[in-house]
Amino acid sequence: MRTETPAPVRLEDYSPPSFRIDTVDLDIRLAPRATRVAARLTIRRAGDAPADAPLILDGDELTLVSLALDGQVLAADRYRATPSRLEIDKLPDGPFRLDIETRLDPDANTKLMGLYRSNGTYCTQCEAEGFRRITYFLDRPDCLAVYTTRIEARASEAPLLLGNGNPVEQGEVPGTDRHYAIWHDPHPKPSYLFALVAGDLACVSDRFTTAEGRDVALNIYVEHGNENHCGWAMDSLKRSMRWDEETFGRCYDLDVFNIVAVSDFNMGAMENKGLNIFNDKYVLADPDTATDQDYAGIEAVIAHEYFHNWTGNRITCRDWFQLCLKEGLTVFRDQEFSADMRSRAVKRISDVRLLKSHQFPEDAGPLAHPVRPRLYHEINNFYTATVYEKGAEVVRMLKTVLGAADFRKGMDLFFERHDGEATTIEAFLACFAEASGRDLNQFALWYEQAGTPSLRIDSDYDANEQRLTLTVVQHTPPTPKQSDKPALHIPVRIGLVGPTGAKLSHGAVTGAQTTGDVVHITAPKQKVIFHDVADRPVPSLLRGFSAPVTLKSDLGDTDLLFLAANDADAFNRWEALQTVVFKTLIAQTFAGPRQQPLEIDPRLTAAIEATMTDDTLEPAFRALCLQLPGEADIAREIGSNVDPEAIHLARSQMRAGLATALAPSIKRIYDGMRETAPYAPDAAAAGRRALKNVLLDYLGHAHGGEYDALVRQQFDAADNMTDRLAALTVLVHARLPGYEDALSAFADRHARTPLAMDKWFMVQATAPREETLAAVKTLTAHPGFSAANPNRVRALIGAFASGNQSQFNRADGAGFDFIADFALDLDTRNPQAAARLLSAFRSWRALEPGRRARARATLERMAQASDLSPDVRDIVDRCLQ
Ligand code: TRP
Ligand code: ZN
Repeated sequence: MRTETPAPVRLEDYSPPSFRIDTVDLDIRLAPRATRVAARLTIRRAGDAPADAPLILDGDELTLVSLALDGQVLAADRYRATPSRLEIDKLPDGPFRLDIETRLDPDANTKLMGLYRSNGTYCTQCEAEGFRRITYFLDRPDCLAVYTTRIEARASEAPLLLGNGNPVEQGEVPGTDRHYAIWHDPHPKPSYLFALVAGDLACVSDRFTTAEGRDVALNIYVEHGNENHCGWAMDSLKRSMRWDEETFGRCYDLDVFNIVAVSDFNMGAMENKGLNIFNDKYVLADPDTATDQDYAGIEAVIAHEYFHNWTGNRITCRDWFQLCLKEGLTVFRDQEFSADMRSRAVKRISDVRLLKSHQFPEDAGPLAHPVRPRLYHEINNFYTATVYEKGAEVVRMLKTVLGAADFRKGMDLFFERHDGEATTIEAFLACFAEASGRDLNQFALWYEQAGTPSLRIDSDYDANEQRLTLTVVQHTPPTPKQSDKPALHIPVRIGLVGPTGAKLSHGAVTGAQTTGDVVHITAPKQKVIFHDVADRPVPSLLRGFSAPVTLKSDLGDTDLLFLAANDADAFNRWEALQTVVFKTLIAQTFAGPRQQPLEIDPRLTAAIEATMTDDTLEPAFRALCLQLPGEADIAREIGSNVDPEAIHLARSQMRAGLATALAPSIKRIYDGMRETAPYAPDAAAAGRRALKNVLLDYLGHAHGGEYDALVRQQFDAADNMTDRLAALTVLVHARLPGYEDALSAFADRHARTPLAMDKWFMVQATAPREETLAAVKTLTAHPGFSAANPNRVRALIGAFASGNQSQFNRADGAGFDFIADFALDLDTRNPQAAARLLSAFRSWRALEPGRRARARATLERMAQASDLSPDVRDIVDRCLQ
């Protein structure tokens, strides 16, 4: 019964298109069930293309209405049209004009790719291959054209008509109830950046004057009633625009910048030229419904999409294998922006936590792929943590390898040389090699080799010779279709910490090239010697997480806790403490349920208390230090034969153990972090709330129930979502008295705010309890839930699958079956969302044998299904490979 797998797309098969499309004139007459798209394309044959090559345009579920060449209707024997392809023979070398008319049904478009309606608003999503769902086209990123778009709709239905670029003209259509607007985008762009929006939306406006003196109109469009929830997004946009001028010398290049928030959107947001379309969760914020994390997310995503204007739009990708060229680079840019807006150390730790929790497991399982893949079946499945997050790490390493000045020179050269082009990773790296005079051939392997490299560092101090010798061994594990991997160029930042905790100086370093405190590791095994080291040092390795590797060293707990207390590098203070915490949690996982209560090394307890109470440290940093690793993080560190139930128990015991041991000081610090001022979303206030709320989580899980009332009190008294949700989570996850009342109070308060209700769904879906699966099933019938809305699916179903390790991985396999059945059903409407949900299976091979067999059976059952989408087929097949 199984549907057969279509042929994959391979990087090595790339060839430039045989035709160029210079201009695209679109006339789009919108109607909910029958939209008519008239596309007029000016085309010419590419200089080196054979004269008899037919023109083959992409389509996807299209209906062709008419076709004309240079104004003449084309005879039926001159072309072949199917829903997915339009092929035309015997075309002149050009330039010639093609008029293609197609008819669409936006209301029937549940895939949310191409033209669809969200709450009545017409909108588009064309990346990666959605434009071919609007008209037949060379729907590939190396086809750059200048677009003019006329949009027409009933004036009452869609008073607002938005397109890419600058507005040109608008007016009534005489004798009808319709009106139109014409937009022109002077910057040649690939089809995936095309967008239109039409509907009845409210607008919040501002202005920005660029460093070049251009006066830009800024608009954010939202559903009526949400106007006063756009302030943070607008503020973030203006700060992003200024930052890109100051940091990269990049100014905005149109007279308007429009942002539209829609409630049905598959991803976070989309960088369409001059008309960014956002998932509303990355625009709307007010203290009562958005958490501090939401505010930070809005700031980062607004910046990310804005930064794409240069890295993605002005310079785009030659083909989709180069996706990291725009995504990795743009994530790096948004991370740097947030670091400058907030605390750099805290931002770095958060980014590394995300990398380790999302990308490392991907890289260690069946879905592993290089930052630049060489083969795909379905490009939608490559918008991954590897392309985005590891891609950003590679750019960060490039900066570490070259130093800030040469990195900036390389970026400048890239912008200068490739502006207006669709290009490749090779071309990108060539700019840095040329600007710095460095050979980056070995470095380029980071784009080619999947798998997280492991780095083993052993140290030996010779007091007589005053030498510290580091023996460094690197290894990259095999991943699907890649076995033997040559050594990478790994930049390792190292500092030596002396016995007093102060920096210990050293003389020459031999055995590796160095630049400043960066040691360049390039061989499988290297002995790096630091000379003239006067005292026995504790080496602080991989400072700032200078490379995305798993580091193992011979530092014992004493040295690690010493670093946790003294390292000048804040990232490594956090990392050192985490390493000791991980060891404790893993030991407890293997000790089994009978070791009750858990023994925590008193030195670790003391170190945690010292960090918690040290008010010279930022509260946000202390919060990160106190937060125990998640269950999936512990599973990742264990690596194989994972028992999620044992992990859950070990983590719960450690939390309760620390809470009970430290209750008085936890309570004292908690009280000290309570705010009297009204809510403000700034990083400092958010940091105090983060610390307070991690402490609340401990108190709510302390033995004896002494603090149950305090949790409830915070829930009742909270004047903001951050504090309310933190308290609700403790109440529900720990089943504290009154948790059900709290859930209903929350639902009553937020019933009409879907983004707030998402948190309510999520809290229940992530409760680590036997009853949760049944509760989630029941909640799918809640009036606030909708399987058609990606945010709702992520909040309830996605949270259960990816955020509830012990229950998704239930020993009886019921968690697997539920997610599989939900995904199979969702696949008939929104394949992209279904495939994304199934990535929860990516670590199934690391489970203990019983659960592993259940997961395999579920995956095999899915593989047997007929009519799987290419998206789900691809994920299931790769998981089973
Ligand atoms: N380019 C978008 C980004 O900024 C990603 C994106 C948005 C996307 N919507 C999409 C990718 C739909 C695939 C399908 O990261
Ligand atoms: Zn992006």
